[in-house]
Amino acid sequence: MSEMDRVAFLNASAHGIGRATALKLARQGYSVFMADIDEAGLETTARDVRDIGAKVATCVADATSAADVERSIQEAIAAFGRIDALACVAGGAGGIPMHHVDDIPLEQWTKVISLNLNSAYLACHHAVPLMREQKYGRIVCLSSTVAKGRLGPVGTMGARLPYATAKAGLLGFTKQLAKDVGDQGITVNAVLPWLTFGEAGAKIRQSFEAQSEEYRMKTLANCPQKRPIAADGVAAAICFLLSEEAEYINGTELPVDGGYLN
Ligand SMILES: NC(=O)c1ccc[n+]([C@@H]2O[C@H](COP(=O)([O-])OP(=O)(O)OC[C@H]3O[C@@H](n4cnc5c(N)ncnc54)[C@H](O)[C@@H]3O)[C@@H](O)[C@H]2O)c1
Repeated sequence: MSEMDRVAFLNASAHGIGRATALKLARQGYSVFMADIDEAGLETTARDVRDIGAKVATCVADATSAADVERSIQEAIAAFGRIDALACVAGGAGGIPMHHVDDIPLEQWTKVISLNLNSAYLACHHAVPLMREQKYGRIVCLSSTVAKGRLGPVGTMGARLPYATAKAGLLGFTKQLAKDVGDQGITVNAVLPWLTFGEAGAKIRQSFEAQSEEYRMKTLANCPQKRPIAADGVAAAICFLLSEEAEYINGTELPVDGGYLN
């Protein structure tokens, strides 16, 4: 089977890295199934995918809801008959900066863990049996450089502590699942982006641009390349790990960070 006949499923793909990945996969010939909570955003991105000439279907679904995820996977199967590539993109830390552990309410803690970690479990819970049957599958989880912890103010990161916790949890999830399904034609890898700017108006870009000049300069100084990356650059890494030719890369964590972690 060529990449032209492959089907990709992406959660949280109306904006940002998910949107950029959907567009790149479409350019590579994949049929694309996109799920997100933002119906209008989904429509816009789906139109852009269609304009490339790729097949696309969408589903309004909350990546943290077991029922929504099950329904979205069923809809993807109804639309395209298979799922070859799964990008677990859903994540975030909420818009309100919360620094100290004693300032973070349990409700926010649980919400952030669920959005970043439960979402990947739910997507894989429903997609892996299909991939096992196909004897083929590629899975990428969106972790973050913050999985290794970060000094300084919370900045654009909202509730950083549960966010770092969940993103580190995703690395364990990736490595264990990779070992569990490695003999079934399925690979599982994680991508760890640093500061990534989606399309104009995307959340992190907007919130970084709203920070003080001093904060922005100090933040960029931490990266050897002294700049953020466009979502397309992270999408390139995701698409490579989702490709057939990445067949022997399994359980890897790939930083896309301009050298930040090195
Ligand atoms: N942007 C960065 O700097 C950066 C850095 C490291 C890691 N990441 C990770 O990359 C992933 C994408 O981040 P981004 O900045 O591109 O995101 P974004 O904020 O630009 O877009 C997030 C998308 O998720 C959707 N969404 C939100 N909650 C949802 C839910 N419960 N169910 C389904 N969809 C939902 C939104 O509608 C939106 O389309 C996240 O996991 C994030 O943690 C981002």
